[in-house]
Amino acid sequence: PSPFVVAIDGPAGSGKSTIARLLARKIGASYLDTGALYRAIAFYLDGRSVPPEEGEPLRCALAELTVSLRGERVFLGDEDVTDRIRTPRVDSIVSRYAALGPVRESLLDLQRSQSRLGPLVADGRDMGTVVFPEADVKIFLSASPEERARRRWRELVDRGETLTCEEVLFQVIRRDRIDSDRTLAPLREAEGAFLVDTTDLSVEEVLSHLCGLMKLDL
Ligand code: C5P
Repeated sequence: PSPFVVAIDGPAGSGKSTIARLLARKIGASYLDTGALYRAIAFYLDGRSVPPEEGEPLRCALAELTVSLRGERVFLGDEDVTDRIRTPRVDSIVSRYAALGPVRESLLDLQRSQSRLGPLVADGRDMGTVVFPEADVKIFLSASPEERARRRWRELVDRGETLTCEEVLFQVIRRDRIDSDRTLAPLREAEGAFLVDTTDLSVEEVLSHLCGLMKLDL
């Protein structure tokens, strides 16, 4: 049988990556942050002024590009871009690129191959619906837009960015709309997913709730 997969989806700031990383550690699984892969591609294409539309420039750029993972670090070719893809600039452009078929297809094998290496906790927008439809456990995290913007804002300020919580709220809502309204792999709750609203829960509370749902005694 194929290794154990936990698929976690949800909008920006719902707590996915924090929860997924901790859950992976608890159950001895690897953690796959698929948002980082889309961010890396968007960072690359934006840096080369390739417009977010299908066509020859996109096709050529994708053909030249190798995205890979070494543990939890993301590489473009030989370059570690992990720390350069979490900027307001990438936040504002990533969804336009992530809506394109050739971009999504280019990442499918890399994502699926991670589940063949051993147990995996993967987070993103289409883990339970498209990438790992056979996942053993599916989880959909949500939270109010204001709370999600607050979390994201704190993260950005900690990184030294100067912007207001309102600006982040605007971006978060805009990004969710593009991710939910797109034709390909839109953000959706997978069938059979556990739905958890994290608005008023601490990280520990979400984790213990999930362990309860998964009947894990940790
Ligand atoms: O999870 P994160 O906020 O880093 O994701 C950045 C963007 O990448 C999302 O807003 C979405 O446009 C795209 N994405 C996606 N499918 C995934 C993960 C991320 O389209 N599985």
